[in-house]
Amino acid sequence: MHVLVTGGCGFIGSNFVRYVFDHWPAWRVTVFDSLTYAGNLGNLTGLLDSERVRFVHGDIADPRQVRETLEGTDAVANFAAESHVDRSILDSGPFIRTNVVGTQVLLNAARELGVERFLQVSTDEVYGSLGPDGTFREDTPLAPNSPYSASKAAADLLVRAAVRTYGLRGMVVRSSNAYGPYQFPEKLIPLMILQAAEGKRLPVYGDGLHVRDWVHVEDLVAAIGLVLQRGQPGDIFNVGGASEMPNLDVVRMIIEMTGASESQIELVEDRPGHDRRYAMDFSRLEAALGWRPTRSFREGLRDTIAWYEAHQDWLHAVRTGKYRDFYRQQYGNRLALP
Ligand code: NAD
Ligand code: TYD
Repeated sequence: MHVLVTGGCGFIGSNFVRYVFDHWPAWRVTVFDSLTYAGNLGNLTGLLDSERVRFVHGDIADPRQVRETLEGTDAVANFAAESHVDRSILDSGPFIRTNVVGTQVLLNAARELGVERFLQVSTDEVYGSLGPDGTFREDTPLAPNSPYSASKAAADLLVRAAVRTYGLRGMVVRSSNAYGPYQFPEKLIPLMILQAAEGKRLPVYGDGLHVRDWVHVEDLVAAIGLVLQRGQPGDIFNVGGASEMPNLDVVRMIIEMTGASESQIELVEDRPGHDRRYAMDFSRLEAALGWRPTRSFREGLRDTIAWYEAHQDWLHAVRTGKYRDFYRQQYGNRLALP
């Protein structure tokens, strides 16, 4: 079997490639990634040496590149996306292009080439925001509030349409906030780990009482693997970590584990349209395929902090932009680097 992993140089995609490599010895992987600021070939260290993993530089919104690369693959796992809410507020353009148009281009090619399985990686953010009680279920109406989540909701609906109209064997996995190794330090947890370790300020939006549910990326990629192999066309599955927490509690835990100081916390201006609370009911996935998160947040966070401490080279390359020098060498002017 041969799976195309789009966005495989990003945070969750690269963890998924590692998962497939370690757990499915009969599978080959083609990583298809346009290497935006969030894409880093260094996330696949050790894997690209294998004949089972190959990298293709390409854009999911380019029908020709997609078609050429998809030829001969059995399955698609679509991780490629613009993924950061704050960036979508500043400029929604790349989000519409990659998350909406790119997903449709992939769906078209998958249908035309008769790809057996298509898994779309989505987010709890498509459901909007919860009050103090309740959880999102798969039949909760979609009510996205940011340009990012609206683009992801659009993609989910395009997958639905491809399943209903053309009989594509497509599935959607909607995950809560993921954390763990190789996450780009623009997202809350890696950003706070780095800032805390360096004695810098810890910018918390608004009153810091916005609640997120955190799932360790290893649990998430195991869920994605299960659904890719055993999900049925049209299936939608929520994935969560059973670890709901206000942002301030997350930041305080990082302070405690890194030996930083509470005085580093700075409440800053709130994000516009900031969703108050996310919480996932993942009982459907548990009942259908027996998946549950295995990592407690405290233990997972401790491991994540240790991972960032042990990977100073990776961090240095990411923070100085050195990881991008490689692309310039390799691709010259063919890569439009912002
Ligand atoms: P990321 O930003 O770390 O990685 C995205 C990857 O996609 C990068 O390697 C980037 O180069 C690539 N990419 C972007 N545009 C592309 C294009 N046009 N063509 C090809 N490749 C392109 O993102 P992530 O956090 O790993 O998220 C992966 C997926 O999971 C996304 O679809 C995201 O919406 C979804 N998701 C993320 C989270 C989370 O907490 N991070 C939670 C739920 C769902
Ligand atoms: P983030 O990691 O951007 O994920 P998402 O917005 O997709 O949930 O943010 C997680 C939460 O942390 C969210 O409520 C916004 C908040 N946040 C801060 O308070 N400060 C920060 O610097 C960042 C990046 C996020």
